Amino acid sequence: MKKISLIHGPNLNLTGSREPGIYGRDTLDAINDEVIRKCEQYGWQCVAFQSNSEGALIDRIQQAIDDCDGIIINAGAYTHYSYAIRDAITSTRLPCIEVHMSNVHAREEFRHYSTISAVCAGVIAGFGKNSYLLAVDALKGILG
Ligand code: DQA
Repeated sequence: MKKISLIHGPNLNLTGSREPGIYGRDTLDAINDEVIRKCEQYGWQCVAFQSNSEGALIDRIQQAIDDCDGIIINAGAYTHYSYAIRDAITSTRLPCIEVHMSNVHAREEFRHYSTISAVCAGVIAGFGKNSYLLAVDALKGILG
């Protein structure tokens, strides 16, 4: 059975109450449940993780080397400046889909740059919680 690591970065634990006009009203637990169910439809296991700490996110990315087939990551604001998260993703050599709920390119300029896009298989941004569900389909296209 294929296993997907779903990783959420800083402040995403507040999804549902944090800037709902941008990120929607669904909680992270509710979004995780939907992603897990979609993975199950493909016969995959999906394990979700969230941390506000860069080191914990890197540890989790590295963990995927041993027991996962793909990664879906919303690195939150770390997306825009963490070279360490970028290096961790590269180290896994696993297909990784970068996700953002908001359309980062329509927002402040600092959100336009991503350290991780170039080392990810692709980027999905701007579709709210559906960005995560589209990422599952993107991985399906890669993993079969
Ligand atoms: C985000 C966009 C980032 O710029 C921001 O820092 C987040 C969430 C998104 O999902 O749209 O925390 O990754």
